[in-house]
Amino acid sequence: MSSEEFEWFQKMNWSKNPFQLSPVGKPDLVVGFDEEFQLLENYIRLGYDVVIEGPYGSGKTSLLLCLETLFKDNRLPIFFYAPPESVAELIQIIGMELKFDGEILPQVLYQTLRRSDDRIILLIDEAHDLNIDVAKMLRGLSDLDNISIIYSALNGFSFDKLPKILNTLADRVQEIIYLDLLSEEEVILAIEKRIEDVSEENEVSPFTEDALNFIAQVSEGAPREAIKLCSAAIAIAIRDSIFEIDIDILEKITKRRPSEIVRKIQRLGDREKQVIKLFVSHPVITTGLVKDELSVSSQASYNVIARLMEKELVTSREAEGRGNEYLPVGLVKRILTQETAPFLL
Ligand SMILES: Nc1ncnc2c1ncn2[C@@H]1O[C@H](COP(=O)(O)OP(=O)(O)O)[C@@H](O)[C@H]1O
Ligand SMILES: [Mg+2]
Repeated sequence: MSSEEFEWFQKMNWSKNPFQLSPVGKPDLVVGFDEEFQLLENYIRLGYDVVIEGPYGSGKTSLLLCLETLFKDNRLPIFFYAPPESVAELIQIIGMELKFDGEILPQVLYQTLRRSDDRIILLIDEAHDLNIDVAKMLRGLSDLDNISIIYSALNGFSFDKLPKILNTLADRVQEIIYLDLLSEEEVILAIEKRIEDVSEENEVSPFTEDALNFIAQVSEGAPREAIKLCSAAIAIAIRDSIFEIDIDILEKITKRRPSEIVRKIQRLGDREKQVIKLFVSHPVITTGLVKDELSVSSQASYNVIARLMEKELVTSREAEGRGNEYLPVGLVKRILTQETAPFLL
């Protein structure tokens, strides 16, 4: 920590920067998950397998880490940051957690667990990357009452991706929990909780009320966006020795910052970019318009829109009596203008 940072944090009474982007496993720091915790506690007690789905940055990893914390004392939660790539890896990790010596074969592990009193929770993040061999092993483990498997994945996993990986594993999922983005009040609460967490005694917040409201609006309920804005604002405040962060600083940041969305747009394929470009002159589009403008088949036009929806750049809504129409999400709308389009696309 530089001396400027040290002084600044000292003035705030903060022990460290509260706006770390990494997921948090502290249940006290997450907001809006009370119902999820209750449901999951029930499901885990019953030995159910559950899928947690939500968009990028909605708190899936944090939720899994919180479950790890919450169940540490009376279960054996095992967190996988991504699905193991092979059965051997899966077995090695479980074996290690159970303190088995040496290598163990899949069937041997299965028999051992079947007879054991250990109550295990497998917490598997990024489950959309699961492969079939590991899925088959999980299917076996899932039939044991003392094992709960909690998967977390991007939207569409349970009904689309998982059945394609292994239908009989999809059949074993008893519940799906969808994570929503946060409300504006919840975003503000999340920021306040983080500040409280690093504050000694009387806490000080550098953010004015307007600034907090601005962050809540601009981040559109995505906690990751909100945290990024806060940490960018703090960096500026430290540099300029400012102790009150007002809306001006945040406006400067959002105007100038090449956000996640910009990078996402720049990485799109040619056809996807062509569709995004249509939004410069059309507030909403249809598959028909895409078909005509790009001279592609209806199916291809649908596919490219579906990919943009999967990447969360586009959403759909029902047009009165005429099927669906598609529009850019708020952040894309804000970023994409006549002036910026040539640089983005
Ligand atoms: N409900 C929440 N309350 C407070 N902070 C959250 C919440 N959900 C996510 N965050 C924060 O947002 C960031 C992104 O969360 P993460 O768990 O990595 O999302 P995901 O795994 O869905 O992409 C993390 O810094 C995390 O601490
Ligand atoms: Mg994650």
